[in-house]
Amino acid sequence: MSEMNFTVDPGKCTGCETCVRDCPSASLAMLDGTPVVARFGEKSCIKCQHCLAVCPEGAVSIFGKNPEDCGTVKTLPQPEEVASLYQFRRSCRQYKHKTIAKSKLDALLGMLRWTPTGHNDRGLHFSVVDDVGAMDGIRSFIGSALLQMVHTDTLPPAFRWVKMRRSILEQGADIVFASAPHIIVASVRDDSLCKEIDPIIALAQFETMAQSLGLGTTWCGFAYWVFQLFEKDARKLLRIPEGHSIAYVMLFGEPDVEYPRSTSQEPPGITLISEMPSAN
Ligand SMILES: Cc1cc2nc3c(=O)[nH]c(=O)nc-3n(C[C@H](O)[C@H](O)[C@H](O)COP(=O)(O)O)c2cc1C
Repeated sequence: MSEMNFTVDPGKCTGCETCVRDCPSASLAMLDGTPVVARFGEKSCIKCQHCLAVCPEGAVSIFGKNPEDCGTVKTLPQPEEVASLYQFRRSCRQYKHKTIAKSKLDALLGMLRWTPTGHNDRGLHFSVVDDVGAMDGIRSFIGSALLQMVHTDTLPPAFRWVKMRRSILEQGADIVFASAPHIIVASVRDDSLCKEIDPIIALAQFETMAQSLGLGTTWCGFAYWVFQLFEKDARKLLRIPEGHSIAYVMLFGEPDVEYPRSTSQEPPGITLISEMPSAN
């Protein structure tokens, strides 16, 4: 049996070619009115499952996945709800010191499978600190390690922001993770084709889902830099898979702050190219 295991139910297929037309890698072709794997199709297939998803009759199976395994009920939020979610999303720096409800965590982890990756590479891994006690352990480990470098004056120049917070660090403040109860760390396989962008898309979707659940989130450059600084320890603490590198970090948890209004932002530079511009 081929690896693709592309099969068509002859009782359902109408030969409409929809699957062949939607295949992004020309891995399918029509033969005597039926879709089949094209020449070199096994090699070119990127495993996106579009043939399975797009078939109007539910006649296509691939990689052992059948139409019955797929979702069919699609509920979309209203555009003004999506716009409002983005307008009122704030970076949270005041969190409740408690583990979030399991139902919320399950919803967050469940959506991670739906993030797109370049060439459908799917080379992402997520380390999720899902318990506030475990997070406190990481917090304290990183705090002590930073403090030691401050005291021995061995911090690289890029960590001036740590030195500037020396006194509160000495008092035990969490200057890296804003006292968040959870973090998600996206790592990516080193040979992934779109390794710079895939993890960021995933975390952006994670943030949207988290905010829709009423959770606070923070993109955390501080944590990313600190994990680079203590890379060996971070890899161990976060169980980063061999051959993966940490790509970015997001804090999340129940917020301990409310914003009765949004901020007031100027629009960014936007250029509309409405006519074919001259090359000169
Ligand atoms: C890539 C990135 C890294 C960030 N790193 C941190 C961080 O380490 N600590 C922090 O408190 N906020 C961090 N932020 C949050 C920004 O400071 C925040 O987005 C900005 O102040 C605007 O606030 P808002 O997100 O509430 O609109 C980061 C944001 C981005 C996009």
